[in-house]
Amino acid sequence: MNKHLLTLHDWSAEEILDTLDLADELKYKQKNGIEHHLLKGKTLGMIFTKSSTRTRVSFEVGMYQLGGSALFLSSNDIQLGRGETIYDTAQVLSRFLDGIMIRTYKQSDVEDLARFGQIPIINGLTDLVHPCQILADFQTIREHKGKLSGLKLAYIGDGNNMAHSLMYGGAKVGMDIAIATPEQYQCDPEVVKNALEDAAKTGTKITLTCDPVEAIRDADVVYADTWVSMGQEAEKAEKLKVFGPYQIDKKLFSYAKDDAIFLHCLPAYRGYEVTEDVIDGPNSVIFDEAENRLHAQKAVMVKLMGEK
Ligand code: CP
Ligand code: NVA
Repeated sequence: MNKHLLTLHDWSAEEILDTLDLADELKYKQKNGIEHHLLKGKTLGMIFTKSSTRTRVSFEVGMYQLGGSALFLSSNDIQLGRGETIYDTAQVLSRFLDGIMIRTYKQSDVEDLARFGQIPIINGLTDLVHPCQILADFQTIREHKGKLSGLKLAYIGDGNNMAHSLMYGGAKVGMDIAIATPEQYQCDPEVVKNALEDAAKTGTKITLTCDPVEAIRDADVVYADTWVSMGQEAEKAEKLKVFGPYQIDKKLFSYAKDDAIFLHCLPAYRGYEVTEDVIDGPNSVIFDEAENRLHAQKAVMVKLMGEK
């Protein structure tokens, strides 16, 4: 098993699917009151340099349910935010903690933490990727569709961390991914190159287009994210000018399969990337998806921080 969760590009299909199986098992146990203190006495540090509702609460509650504890470390409060190096932070925190979850801007900061520390590092979102979200998404898709391989997922919106992670994950597990973005907001070319290489090995189709109808046609899963990610607030007015045709409304959603499910990592902005009738409509499974952050991340922590 990989020692860290930095991106899903680093994980094998087997590691992803094993983690999802464990997530299902832990969810079943939690729902049925079966105790499973698999991380008794362990401590997770949670470094945040960006806001969070789901990631923070699900990791903290997950650690508690596993018999361990979690520490919220805001960058406003720790010395990292005042210029202490990642090297020193990684060395010191490795002496106290059993794992670190970090949400920050630069992917390279997360990778440095993994490189310099001696404990598992879990990426809780960077500007580049959001792998924990994808594991919860895949758990949700399996619950509703019974499988991942052979499905088509359409992501409509910004070529951002969610689009990247969906490509990385889909390419590993054999789920076709179609991404429609405005011309000016396409995915990172390096991520696309990596994902296409993985997809070629698994026979997965990755489609990149600027046409939302082409992407969504016959999709089993439709995915939206905010048009304005954390840290991009100053670009909002500029972005709103071009994203209008990428709003997922009932008309656009009707090009997907009749039984398509709608996913959104949340937080959502109704009336922008998605209309109310879609996100609050009968095909939406957004709150199952949000709940699965808890179960999927518990599985990640057990895999990375549990006894081998
Ligand atoms: N989806 C997600 O990561 O939500 P938060 O920003 O609330 O953690
Ligand atoms: N793309 C969004 C995802 C939030 C979970 C952001 O980075 O803000």
